[in-house]
Amino acid sequence: MAGQAEKVFVPTDDELLQAQSDLWRHSLCYLTPMSLRCAVDLGVPTAIHRLGGAASPSELVAALSLPASKLPFLARLLRQLATAGVFSATDAGTYRLNPLSYLLVDGVRIDGDASQTAIVRAAASRYYVEAAMGMADWFRKDFDGPVPSPFEDVHGAAIFEESMTLLDPEMDQLIHDAVAAHDHMGIGPVLRQCRELFEGLESLTDCGGGDGTTARSIVEAYPHIKCTVLDLPKVMDKVLLPAEEGAVKYVSGDLFHVVPPAQAVLLKLVLHFWSDEDRFLQGQCWKPNTSWICSCW
Ligand SMILES: C[S@@+](CC[C@H](N)C(=O)[O-])C[C@H]1O[C@@H](n2cnc3c(N)ncnc32)[C@H](O)[C@@H]1O
Repeated sequence: MAGQAEKVFVPTDDELLQAQSDLWRHSLCYLTPMSLRCAVDLGVPTAIHRLGGAASPSELVAALSLPASKLPFLARLLRQLATAGVFSATDAGTYRLNPLSYLLVDGVRIDGDASQTAIVRAAASRYYVEAAMGMADWFRKDFDGPVPSPFEDVHGAAIFEESMTLLDPEMDQLIHDAVAAHDHMGIGPVLRQCRELFEGLESLTDCGGGDGTTARSIVEAYPHIKCTVLDLPKVMDKVLLPAEEGAVKYVSGDLFHVVPPAQAVLLKLVLHFWSDEDRFLQGQCWKPNTSWICSCW
């Protein structure tokens, strides 16, 4: 009631115990992607695969040529990753590949030619971690003009921009490999499981379609669909394909300026770049009656 002193919040002992354990969990949960990255760098999924699909920590220490003194630590890492759903733990004390770790075996390619390990190595890289650690400073800063992302603020370069290529060509390539890996992996199951999305469709523009992997898969599955891939000139310049290849056409441009007309627009792994205001502007570039076929992220 107005004027009445607010009751001061005092947690119960049960709540305090729960809160303290949640605090530990939240403070340390960044170790899960770090452990995943460590397992990928060590080659654990590939070693399990080569050992027949299941392996004990000691078999892995031998297979990976790790010092024997690291056995208890590797056992902990495996336990942690099994708890996180990366491997499956068996009653016999071994660890098996599951669908997630299967993706991380060397040579495994899902619906294309990209290695999924790039996703782990890019997302759990020092670039992403440092950007995340810069968030509090970023919040405090009052920027003149457009607000950069924390990544751009910390590194002075933006993902998918020329600045990133200049800063660290290897990391830039890894980020592109990660996107290609996602692109290869994501579209196969969508095409197989959501056939109705594409039924009756004759033309489609894939905005921010990268090197056209998605568009080529769509056309392979639905040869009657005419696909146009729109991406920025710096991306299109690297696409070593003719401007038109069968039913796929490649167009250089900025989707905020012009979107090649089509019955439907695909935005896959693109929307997260922009604010709601930007997205509104984007919508204004589209011809009336255009449908969104799909909008992931
Ligand atoms: C995360 S990638 C997604 C690529 C692809 N759609 C996929 O699913 O893997 C985002 C793409 O959007 C492109 N992009 C960013 N801003 C753009 C713009 N203003 N106009 C056109 N493409 C843009 C980037 O160059 C990049 O290729």
